[in-house]
Amino acid sequence: MMKISKYIYVATVISLFSQFAHATGGGGGGSDQKERLGQLLYFDTNLSINKNQSCASCHTPPGFVDPMNVANPANSVVSLGSDITLNGGRNTPSAAYAAFSPFFHWNAVEGLYIGGQFWDGRAASLTEQAKGPFLNPVEMAMPSKKSVLERIASKYNDNYRLYKRLFDRVYGVDIVNASDSNNQVYIDAVYEMVADAIAAFEKTGEFNKFSSKFDYFLAGQTNLNDQELRGMALFNGKAQCNACHTSDPLVAPDGSVIPPLFTDFSYDNIGIPKSTNPLIANNPLDYGLGGRPDIAAKDPTGAELGKHKVMSLRNIAITPPYGHNGFFATLGEVVHFYNTRDVETWPVPEVGQNVNTDELGNLGLTPEEEADVVAFLMTLTDGFGPPLNNFAFPPFP
Ligand code: HEC
Ligand code: HEC
Repeated sequence: MMKISKYIYVATVISLFSQFAHATGGGGGGSDQKERLGQLLYFDTNLSINKNQSCASCHTPPGFVDPMNVANPANSVVSLGSDITLNGGRNTPSAAYAAFSPFFHWNAVEGLYIGGQFWDGRAASLTEQAKGPFLNPVEMAMPSKKSVLERIASKYNDNYRLYKRLFDRVYGVDIVNASDSNNQVYIDAVYEMVADAIAAFEKTGEFNKFSSKFDYFLAGQTNLNDQELRGMALFNGKAQCNACHTSDPLVAPDGSVIPPLFTDFSYDNIGIPKSTNPLIANNPLDYGLGGRPDIAAKDPTGAELGKHKVMSLRNIAITPPYGHNGFFATLGEVVHFYNTRDVETWPVPEVGQNVNTDELGNLGLTPEEEADVVAFLMTLTDGFGPPLNNFAFPPFP
């Protein structure tokens, strides 16, 4: 966790809101045409080997996760690839709100790694991330960057004309010419544009709605019920969730309020047990951040082993299963785990090193208090109403 202030109070929140004056929300920057191009690419199933999978297949609105996982979180804990006999080893996280993760870096003040994309942060930025899935054999499984460009520029692609126009307008590139090229430098550059356009789309209000009941409450436009209020107080108090899932709103220079993202983008080992799901039970242990060769090389004491990224809790009620390996099917199980890990019989952590025992494991919550925390988590689902236009977006990195 980052050493941030741990407690916010309803009163603070409300007083913050009475200060904000300007309506700056929505948008997200970048040209509309770039976002449109990114949208077409994000939903394009032609860009997978069997033409059956797009980014959206595993990151489907409204939760931007895999609907097969959501439908059956106790058994379906990882996503299948374009080749449906293959699967990755990690639970698919939401692509919503990921755009706010800082570029992966070492924060010398806190002494922590921060930011990046994926559970282990191995993609430094959203653009880096978007270059991965097309070529990942257990995901979209395309054989090369050139082959991805060929599928975009194919006359059999329904959006062929639109792609041709948008690549020209946004990047000044002839996508057909690029896909015919054998100049790897040129291909790399255009492939980078594909990722850049997708990242621009992921920064739009489509992915970052800030329209949950919590946001409406923050804006003074609805009330939370008694149980939700108790849950919020526990989240920020006795249960200590906000030590890592940051819940403080910020104030932009112009005075408008920036709603919280419920993550500080740091890394921790909360001691989740190894999954027994048949699809991943026989995988090697997942060492997360510390398992990355580049990090391991700088980490002789293994201080990063077993740590995974603190994920945003926005939309958490509609994005089961939970944890890097999908170990938990319900929010009730997650909260019970945080509450009782060290005092009830749980299977041992997947990685025994660096397990956090300061802020979790024995919270002393009653069953009613566990239910209160869950009730609060359920207020974080977007779509309580239309996106609010009086928030400012958090800064993009
Ligand atoms: C087969 C399912 C699948 C497909 C297709 C897929 N993803 Fe993912 N996505 C995942 C999984 C699994 C992870 C986590 C992998 C890890 O942490 O090692 C992930 C992680 C991410 C993240 C990181 C989120 C975070 O908070 O760290 C983003 C963003 C993302 N995907 C966007 C995309 C985009 C854009 C595409 C299309 C180019 C795409 N995904 C295609 C399964 C998929
Ligand atoms: C010490 C930091 C820390 C604290 C305190 C903490 N969390 Fe987490 N949380 C994490 C990390 C790290 C992960 C990802 C761990 C993993 O998958 O191995 C996570 C994951 C989760 C997930 C699953 C997210 C997903 O997308 O699958 C939920 C839900 C969650 N936490 C809720 C809570 C609640 C509720 C509390 C308070 C009872 C809490 N957390 C306290 C660090 C923390």
